[in-house]
Amino acid sequence: MSKRFVSFMIVLTMALLAVVPTFAQDAPSGELEIFSWWAGDEGPALEALIVKYNEMYPDVTVNNATVTGGSGVNARAVLKTRMLGGDPPDSFQVHAGQELIGTWVIADRMEDLTFLFEEEGWMDKFPQGLIDLLSYEGGIWSVPVNIHRSNVMWYVPANLEAWGVSVPASWAEFLEICPTLQANDVTPLVVGENWTVNHLWESVALAELGVDGWNGLWAGEKSWLDDDVVAMWDTFGQILDCSNIDVDAATLSWQQATDAVIAGDAAFNVMGDWAAGYMFTTLGLEPGVGFGWAPSPGTGGVFMMLSDSFGLPKDIKNHDAAVAWLKLLGSQEGQDIFNPLKGSIAGRLDSDLSLYNAYLQSAAADWQMDAVVGSLAHGAVAPESFSSEFATVMEIYLGSRNGMSASNAAQAIANQAGIGG
Ligand code: GAL
Repeated sequence: MSKRFVSFMIVLTMALLAVVPTFAQDAPSGELEIFSWWAGDEGPALEALIVKYNEMYPDVTVNNATVTGGSGVNARAVLKTRMLGGDPPDSFQVHAGQELIGTWVIADRMEDLTFLFEEEGWMDKFPQGLIDLLSYEGGIWSVPVNIHRSNVMWYVPANLEAWGVSVPASWAEFLEICPTLQANDVTPLVVGENWTVNHLWESVALAELGVDGWNGLWAGEKSWLDDDVVAMWDTFGQILDCSNIDVDAATLSWQQATDAVIAGDAAFNVMGDWAAGYMFTTLGLEPGVGFGWAPSPGTGGVFMMLSDSFGLPKDIKNHDAAVAWLKLLGSQEGQDIFNPLKGSIAGRLDSDLSLYNAYLQSAAADWQMDAVVGSLAHGAVAPESFSSEFATVMEIYLGSRNGMSASNAAQAIANQAGIGG
């Protein structure tokens, strides 16, 4: 064998060794488990993204593991058991902000994704405020797929016209039209199962406390015992008196509460804009005709945001496939596949708005112009130790209708959760 041939073979072998690992990294294979609560009616946007992923990575079998239940009430409990039991899914849905940081990052269960943001050139593709929400101690801990708005009031324009009422700009205006609607045998405001009542509450609290008051609660700079906070509970109680809270609320999912508005059984519903996704994508209604929207009363000019994101837990089974999933989620194409169906706007700054419907275009404009605050009910502003206990605060209020008792309980759990401390 000539020396030349031997060196040729060595060079060839080295070249192959260099190529093989890169190839393996570029084309992940095996099973990828994605964990979320986007099941059934909530599924189409995620499913569309998975179709795209399958096209890009045909050697990966995606296991779309979902646990039904709006706002992740059930999924979070299952996730906790799995994470603590050493069986993390390859990637899971988590709200940007305290739900991510206060639960999984401080417990050292997540991988730092700064490398991905740098490699993919994402540092200036997402707003700095959103990156800040995903950051803790020098790391970035998940990839945001969207921006949802919490403080939206939904209605059917033709129904309001028939009942002779207009969209209330404040809760005082809502309370004025409440008797007219009741006289028409219509539920003025429909609520559903427990978490949807918390969801309504956060829009009412924002209206009554204003941006500074709301932010002050989460910075620990404002007391729950302040007069305006205690008085807010009374307004909340009057609003609930115009709802179905004591009738069938507990039996309704958020979709069923939306259905009541569409059917004309109820006039209004305050829900995040996944309701727009449901009405547009699942029910096939035209924004502005089949359904209308407005900022929840008293919150015009304020965008209460939350963001769904996916993270990379430590010690997962298919790291390469999970990183490829996160890359798709954070890409312009991925976000523009997902969000027009989901009822959310892209987290990225460069999405193609022509792909989005009239509601989403208006949300995108508000996102640019409005003051932005974070949602409690969807994980942005408070750690889970507070937000899950807030259900108890709500029970105390609903059971007693005593604002001072509710405020006392809220202050106690805020102290325990170290809010502001
Ligand atoms: C929110 C989530 C939304 C939507 C909603 C209803 O917490 O961020 O994407 O799924 O719950 O389930």
